[in-house]
Amino acid sequence: MANNKQEHAQWSSSFGFVLAAVGSAVGLGNIWKFPYMVGESGGSAFVIAYLFCIALVGFPVLVAEWLIGRRGQKNPINTFTDVAVSEGKSRSWGIVGATGILGGFLILSFYSVIGGWALNYITKIGTGSFVGQDSDTVGATFDAMLASAGTLTIWHTVFMAITALIVGIGVTRGIETTAKVLMPLLGLILFVIVGYNVVNGGFGEAVNYLFAPDMSKLTGDVMLAALGHAFFTLSIGMGIMVAYGSYLGREVNLLKTARTVVILDTVIALAAGLAIFPIIFNNGLDPAAGPGLIFVSLPIAFGSMTAGTIIGILFFLLITFAALTSSISLLEPTVEFLEERTPMSRTVSTIVASTVIWLLGIAALLSFNLWSDFTIMGNGIFDALDKITSKFLLPLTGLAGIIFFAWKMDQRTIQQELGLSNGAWQIWQVVAKFVAPIAIIVVFVTTLLG
Ligand code: PHE
Repeated sequence: MANNKQEHAQWSSSFGFVLAAVGSAVGLGNIWKFPYMVGESGGSAFVIAYLFCIALVGFPVLVAEWLIGRRGQKNPINTFTDVAVSEGKSRSWGIVGATGILGGFLILSFYSVIGGWALNYITKIGTGSFVGQDSDTVGATFDAMLASAGTLTIWHTVFMAITALIVGIGVTRGIETTAKVLMPLLGLILFVIVGYNVVNGGFGEAVNYLFAPDMSKLTGDVMLAALGHAFFTLSIGMGIMVAYGSYLGREVNLLKTARTVVILDTVIALAAGLAIFPIIFNNGLDPAAGPGLIFVSLPIAFGSMTAGTIIGILFFLLITFAALTSSISLLEPTVEFLEERTPMSRTVSTIVASTVIWLLGIAALLSFNLWSDFTIMGNGIFDALDKITSKFLLPLTGLAGIIFFAWKMDQRTIQQELGLSNGAWQIWQVVAKFVAPIAIIVVFVTTLLG
């Protein structure tokens, strides 16, 4: 990305941009977080709420963030400020960029901890820890990892260091090009596991669990969780897509690109669900096991399938890779901001930002062991960071972003920029002006009252 201060770089092609956007969107959110949130929220109610949120809120917010980013061509704060000023509106809109950067910053701290888990599992599977093991042993291995602050710290550090290195050297685009090969491979492995499940049972039950509508479980809390996850998984509501949009050429069709990203992201999440839940049901595991869900279920399958060790190693390697293309996007806005707004060079900006995030990550991982008694409003540090970002910062930043986009910016030029005919434009306006913001507000109010 921007390696020198005078010139704000651009993506070489719209394909490069799609790769980067998919790289950011597809990550631990799809494979680690989505399944366990489904499990905690009782299955299909969450899935259905999530699909609605993705289509009616996520998609328009994504387009809005790219468009604003492309207009502003700077880091998210300056972008929001500049675009607001050029539309004759208050400079205070820059705050939206700031809360966004804060969100990404906080997310990366615990994201890196989970990236570390995935790294650790590569070595565990590689050394045959799970071959022929039953669910109790696999669960015990996971618990032992959580209990060891030292192990968690080492792997969190490795993950954070790799992220910082990539961002610091400024080779994020090289990584994204590699992702072009690795992402499809990840998809393929997911389907191999799904295939294994079809043969080994539990599949029908999982399909039912994920898709048979059971609206009795659709509470305000589930809706807020689904909304928050829609933001998390698409990397919106935190300035990242604004920052990415700032590198975007004018010829790129935002709506089509957003459609591609949203569909790919959703397909991978659903495939992860179909890869994991049959194993859960087959082995009598608890779907509501929480953040450890994939780590206590998949290794059972890898331990018993043909070539399981290879497939298992590959799987966790690819997850790590997907996590890295997301984590570099989480670090990038903060670094971009420091680089453009302070005298610090890119290298120093990267070191400063990642050290602070790394420290916060240590606090997060200690909440699984040494600091497990310390809570913030009933949550451990890890859960608190997750909830504050997904349930508040992201949706509220997204809400402000879409309100700015649909109510404060000149709509005529937006119609041209999106290239919409009059009919399609009216639908778009209803969604962007009313459906998306009202949905966010309603979900908030219901949850707060509930
Ligand atoms: N979207 C990424 C994922 O689903 C996580 C992420 C969140 C990345 C926010 C960037 C910003 O894993």
